[in-house]
Amino acid sequence: MTRVSGATGHGSAHDEWSNPLRDARDKRLPRIAGPSGLVLFGVTGDLARKKLMPAIYDLANRGLLPPGFALVGFARRDWEDQDFAEVVHDAVRSHSRTPFRQEVWDRLSEGLRFVQGTFDDDAAFDNLARCVAELDAERGTNGNHAFYLSIPPSAFPTVCKQLSRSGLADDEGDVWRRVVIEKPFGHDLRSAQELNGIVNDVFPEDSVFRIDHYLGKETVQNLLALRFANELFEPIWNAHHVDHVQITMAEDIGVGGRAGYYDGIGAARDVIQNHLLQLLALTAMEEPVSFSPDDLREEKIKVLSATKLAEPLDETTARGQYAGGWQGSTEVKGLQQEEGFPPDSVTETYAAITCEINTRRWAGVPFYLRTGKRLGRRVTEIAVVFKRAPHLPFDQTMTEELGQNALVVRVQPDEGVTLRFGSKVPGSGMEVRDVTMDFGYGTAFTEASPEAYERLLLDVLLGEPSLFPTNTEVELSWRILDPVIEKWHREGSPDSYPAGTWGPRSADVLLERTGRTWRRP
Ligand code: BG6
Repeated sequence: MTRVSGATGHGSAHDEWSNPLRDARDKRLPRIAGPSGLVLFGVTGDLARKKLMPAIYDLANRGLLPPGFALVGFARRDWEDQDFAEVVHDAVRSHSRTPFRQEVWDRLSEGLRFVQGTFDDDAAFDNLARCVAELDAERGTNGNHAFYLSIPPSAFPTVCKQLSRSGLADDEGDVWRRVVIEKPFGHDLRSAQELNGIVNDVFPEDSVFRIDHYLGKETVQNLLALRFANELFEPIWNAHHVDHVQITMAEDIGVGGRAGYYDGIGAARDVIQNHLLQLLALTAMEEPVSFSPDDLREEKIKVLSATKLAEPLDETTARGQYAGGWQGSTEVKGLQQEEGFPPDSVTETYAAITCEINTRRWAGVPFYLRTGKRLGRRVTEIAVVFKRAPHLPFDQTMTEELGQNALVVRVQPDEGVTLRFGSKVPGSGMEVRDVTMDFGYGTAFTEASPEAYERLLLDVLLGEPSLFPTNTEVELSWRILDPVIEKWHREGSPDSYPAGTWGPRSADVLLERTGRTWRRP
């Protein structure tokens, strides 16, 4: 270890120890978070148990958390630190990605604390402030804390006000305080603006980390590498060569057990407003000047500002709700029979929209976005479908089996990229048929991708905001989606589709009208 002086050249408080073998500009090795802690609101929720707690353990196991890291749980339950530790332990044992190692757990569990209380209880937040101050003294968290609000958005205002009142949001000097919020960020543009106002009243925008876990996925980040590190794709990544783009997020699961959140929200708000519009932005944006967070976000904001729904909405959008059916060999219920949903629920579980991007690069190229529950299988992909060659010097019979060239980014599962193009069928005749060239993460690399939440939680602690949508991005996404949500709200019931199929007939008609078809992923 060597000592590096601060800008003054004198031994100042800003002096830092640094490893001479590590160059801060070298981005290949993961950075380790500095002294810090995380306060988790919503510890009893699914997300906390299945994703957040395991991700924290996985980070500890990979040596990416600081030695004195602290995790504080805040909830109504009458628990001691020990009870909370047990909950975290069980979550880690059931859901962590990396193997369980007792010594890692022992070290992590020394920093677990629990504070009991409700969101409107001043005394509980004063206790939380005391707990955090003790951790600073005992474990060296140095005043740096992130507050993860894994709670319903209706509770954000109260919790933000409490954090402010109790001094927990104050970030004086070198100390940082950050807030992490989970979607839904509002349910339309107006409510998102209100919510952003409430959060930004307490935390400045550069301390707000909005989680869109799709941005934490390796394959999504690879979109930037694929487009901007290669010469091959970018010259044809435009309206001259691209016919259309299909972004699909299909799930085979239903929404049983999630009625409290999902009923009245539906597929478009749950998934298109955030994950799919972010995928659209990364697919369509211009090359950023650099990979600095500001430059990246600027390009995303530009492309989202130029995006709107194609009209007329009657012809360019479709929605559906799953009815009973078969998922593989299992018979499953329709949404209206799922626990907690009213038998006349009009919540859509399938949504498809057409976006147009009014820029020189994309004018005239439709971007079709679709998502659904209880579809044929779980798959997320971005398919860039190219135009046909302007001239085919073949007899028609020779190219009957030739489709359109396509580049498909397989976000999940079976992560990778496929290129589809025509090739001659071996033999003395001449027949051209579609073939594929494939890159799979599983075969190309030996290291496994981290879970999205590992990457995102680490970035919060590092203060690295690139993968978190800003308030502007969130509001622009609502601006794009609002017209169709309002239309569906006026129109009542969605179309029905049997579970285990690929959505309502109206979604197929949407594409057939333009002479295209959905890919069967
Ligand atoms: C969440 C949605 O954001 O993403 C869920 O609220 C959905 O409805 C989930 O099931 C899917 O995430 P993943 O990572 O499994 O594609």
